[in-house]
Amino acid sequence: MASDFKVTPWEVSGDIDYDVLVKRFGTSRIDDALLDRLSSYGDLHPLLRRGIFYSHRDLGAILDAYDKGEGFVLYTGRGPSGDTHLGHLLPWMFTKWLQDVFDVKLYFQLTDDEKFLFKHELSLEETREMAYENALDVAAMGFDRDKTRIILDTANIEQLYPLALKVAKKVTFSTARAVFGFNNSNNIGSIFYTAVQAAPCFLESEEQGRNVACLIPCGIDQDPHFRVTRDVAPGLGYLKPALMHNKMFPGLGGGDKMSSSDPDSTIFTTDGKKAVRSKIGRAFTGGCVSAEEQREKGGNPEVCAIFKYQFFLFEEDDDKLDEMVRRCRSGEMLCGECKMALSEKVNVFLEGHQRRREEARSYIGEMTYKGFEW
Ligand code: TRP
Repeated sequence: MASDFKVTPWEVSGDIDYDVLVKRFGTSRIDDALLDRLSSYGDLHPLLRRGIFYSHRDLGAILDAYDKGEGFVLYTGRGPSGDTHLGHLLPWMFTKWLQDVFDVKLYFQLTDDEKFLFKHELSLEETREMAYENALDVAAMGFDRDKTRIILDTANIEQLYPLALKVAKKVTFSTARAVFGFNNSNNIGSIFYTAVQAAPCFLESEEQGRNVACLIPCGIDQDPHFRVTRDVAPGLGYLKPALMHNKMFPGLGGGDKMSSSDPDSTIFTTDGKKAVRSKIGRAFTGGCVSAEEQREKGGNPEVCAIFKYQFFLFEEDDDKLDEMVRRCRSGEMLCGECKMALSEKVNVFLEGHQRRREEARSYIGEMTYKGFEW
């Protein structure tokens, strides 16, 4: 049943119907007209071409602000609850493309407070330590160092708190409960938390003393926070933040979302070559039981996790992707060969990422908002 799925910032489950989700959340599709407009600024990113970044709120207003020379800022973030995995990198890659195309500032929020509040097993010291490790992954994406500021909630609370307070005063408990499904057993920190995630939307306006538009590229699971933020923004004298949403990055097990809680079907940015090969080797492909049968009947890329990886991140060339589908369906290429090819690509990518990640240790201190020290 289409409605049998759940998408909230803290839980994604079931078979997500992304069309239904757009209706449920009240967002808009990134349609052909918007894609056309976007392509006038730079070659469309594959994630846009393939409908992975597929939904938005007020993207047109951001482009208008840019065209008029008023500018805008980008804002995205990460909840540091463990190692970064490939699914986290997807919106970051896209954010990097946006930063390159529009040459704009980026605020990147690390929510050590959020993960402390929502994961009972984690201490604040641990989430702060993970925030540092995650920041290395952020830096490894190659964002413009001068134009990117990394926010750590517990370190930057002086700047965030006045804004969070203004937001919090306008959001009732009944709204928080309706939007996030809170009940009497949730701790009171988690009820306040949305206000902290809302705050960076307005930082640039505060810094410049004028209203600056803000665009948030993020997984669609984060939309509820910003729906609340958008509702209160005008009452606080700010512009509503705009959003671009991506679909969830699939797990290797064939599910809809890669999740750290299932490490065998998740590729972390720190994984070694052997781990990558063995995780991909065990991935769900939907292939036939025997090679003979598959040569005869062919495979089914639609359900195959390996194919999804190529589609989402690892094969940018549409023609090559089509060829992959053809060879799979015809039974010409079997799962083993396909898995090896993907492992190779993932390992080449991770080798570069891990090198850039290590290099980042020397300069990450210069990218922190207001120069906080780790
Ligand atoms: N809540 C997000 C997470 O758990 C982290 C986050 C903070 C974020 N600010 C954001 C994500 C803005 C996207 C956009 O990962």
